[in-house]
Amino acid sequence: MSNTFQISITRPDDWHVHLRENKMLETVYKDSSRVFGRCIAMPNLKVPITNSRVAIEYKKQILLLSQPQKFEVYVPCYLTDEMDLEDFLIGIKNKYFFGAKLYPTNTTTNSAYGVTKIEKIFPALEILENHNAPLLIHGERTGDAIDIFDREKYFIDTELKKIINKFQNLKIVLEHVSSAYGAEFIADGKDNLAATVTLHHLMLTKEDVFNGGINPHHFCMPVVKNKEDLKILRKYACSGNSKFFLGTDSAPHPITDKENVDDIKPGIYSSPVAIELYASIFEEERSLENLEKFASFNGSNFYNLPYNDGKITLRKEEWINPEFTSNKDVKIKNFMGGQKIKWKVVSN
Ligand code: DOR
Ligand code: ZN
Repeated sequence: MSNTFQISITRPDDWHVHLRENKMLETVYKDSSRVFGRCIAMPNLKVPITNSRVAIEYKKQILLLSQPQKFEVYVPCYLTDEMDLEDFLIGIKNKYFFGAKLYPTNTTTNSAYGVTKIEKIFPALEILENHNAPLLIHGERTGDAIDIFDREKYFIDTELKKIINKFQNLKIVLEHVSSAYGAEFIADGKDNLAATVTLHHLMLTKEDVFNGGINPHHFCMPVVKNKEDLKILRKYACSGNSKFFLGTDSAPHPITDKENVDDIKPGIYSSPVAIELYASIFEEERSLENLEKFASFNGSNFYNLPYNDGKITLRKEEWINPEFTSNKDVKIKNFMGGQKIKWKVVSN
């Protein structure tokens, strides 16, 4: 008798991923387009996507890649203090940009050009609000007096609340929500406020990063937090709550950069096992029936986009995730590389 157990869900999307550029893009594109129908590719490239010319160039680079199936890539504009508002308006109107991304300055990889003072981008936020285009936020603020584990809370209390008060109809996504405080804030907010949730914030706690010496492969921004935070994040993601949806924040770095102890780059590469691990988490939380809402419906609804055509099927079947994604140009350590994965994509 067969005891296989499988589920089919509408093709999911990844609403927050780092596809990178050049050789890295060529390598990681395949993993992202494997099961996801669409993605939002983050604009924090080496030359950040701060104007429509760079956005158009980047999309051309993406279109050159072979596409085994339709994979749509949306790119938000990287907001800066001194942005060209005329160009921004054109980019939003013509949909060169999928909304905009706020990186408070020096909070993560390539955020040096980010925003120093929230008021500087108010004119851009007005444009977003008037065109019903979303603001995606890296919700942290750094500072000498701000504990690394409190950066998200600090940002919410001092800056996000200001934005929400001033732009009451602006669609806002708190990306990679990482704390119980952040998740509760989103859940209690109005319908135009939502959050993406990564795998690693649903799987790791600070012990996985800092116990027994730092593990660079679990180091990311926002840094993973406590068991209680993980529990609350799981509660909201797995309950099917429409304000929470899938965004892996899969962020590849060459292994040499990750293991450089003087300057460990934050980021976890999870695309090769993303939907499989989300399935494991939802199973652990006895919520498999809500996986489709989280992965395929909630984000589409929030962004007013249709659901993807077609389905993917996952089977309860063990396999070993390769340790690395590599070719002659790039070597990346995979999240959960070398480990047993409990779910397998059997049709995509
Ligand atoms: O850990 C992270 N890595 N968090 C981010 O917000 C950016 C990302 C990257 O680009 O490497
Ligand atoms: Zn990210």
